[in-house]
Amino acid sequence: KTITWSPLMAEKGGYKHFMLKEIYEQPRALADTIAGRLQSEEGNIYLEDFGLSDAQLAGLDKIFIIACGTSWHAGLVGKFYIEKLARIPVEIDIASEFRYRDPIVTDKSLTILISQSGETADTLAALREAKGKGGKSVCICNVVDSSIARESDGVIYTHAGPEIGVASTKAFTTQLVALYLLALKLGRSCGTLTADSCRDKVEDLLALPRKLEETLELDEQIEKIARDSMNARDFLYLGRGNQYPIALEGALKLKEISYIHAEGYPAGEMKHGPIALIDENLPVVVLVPQNNIYDKVVSNMEEVCARGGKVIAITSGEESGLQGKVDTLIQVPQTTDDLMPILTSIPMQLLAYHIAVLKGTDVDQPRNLAKSVTVE
Ligand code: G6P
Repeated sequence: KTITWSPLMAEKGGYKHFMLKEIYEQPRALADTIAGRLQSEEGNIYLEDFGLSDAQLAGLDKIFIIACGTSWHAGLVGKFYIEKLARIPVEIDIASEFRYRDPIVTDKSLTILISQSGETADTLAALREAKGKGGKSVCICNVVDSSIARESDGVIYTHAGPEIGVASTKAFTTQLVALYLLALKLGRSCGTLTADSCRDKVEDLLALPRKLEETLELDEQIEKIARDSMNARDFLYLGRGNQYPIALEGALKLKEISYIHAEGYPAGEMKHGPIALIDENLPVVVLVPQNNIYDKVVSNMEEVCARGGKVIAITSGEESGLQGKVDTLIQVPQTTDDLMPILTSIPMQLLAYHIAVLKGTDVDQPRNLAKSVTVE
């Protein structure tokens, strides 16, 4: 029997959808984004088209991060990275908000634009606004020579490769890697990070692609969870700290491709509103990896359980102590607190993907959405 391959099938490399192919490409995409960027001897980060000198970086007093959609979620994690590793205050904005609010940009400000396509109209306009006020700019971008890459003072390319699925996956996790590298570089230039600690952190980063591969082995378990929860009308996603942006991203992925209403919320804020929504019909995805706020999130989760909510908990490592306490438990491998958002993103992507496939929606080209929004 002969199998006829259409060019499109060949491009999908045997996967049913581009989105699934791109989810599985992440270990490679991460490795490519890290490759060649560590100067091991000096414990420094080398970013080839960065465009700004160490002296310029050391003089910064404020950083803006600007983006839209999934890239904005990456930026929310980036704020944690930069403030922790370089101790420079970071403001983060959605591009369409930033451009009309007369932001206080000076020549000591750095504006970081994050855009997969490099063509998003609002992000490009925000870049021009920041530059017009005399600030420096650098973008994190996946498309070589795109408009935003060309107009920024410097660029850090994510080496995710072409992303076809409208719902962003590998672009997002490589943006997180790029932001981490940038935070390390800033930490070295500003003197908040020693060469040794920079080297250690890069070691953790280098171990990540392998851990991401392990995380992908959760696929089958997540498909089962998708079957059990696909008929829900709404979903709630909860996280705290650097997992809160991942809750937002999980909810966005689900909305985009399955058309199920979903909300991401900071777990500690639940008692100020969303708790009223909880009943036995509401799946609540809780991001609860083992870290310094683990107990806090567990107690937020117990509030959900006590009201009959169906908890899908995402934790890390095998000894989290949650076994038997929640309806559904997903365990990603352990990594550092900083890098954990990269691993917890994977179950977010897979859950949305499988629910969408089960519902029969157009996963790669959801209704009303475009890969790149080049109009205001
Ligand atoms: C569109 C896409 C999203 C993306 C957003 C920002 O809405 O559907 O997946 O996150 O634009 O795109 P950018 O290319 O600037 O990252």
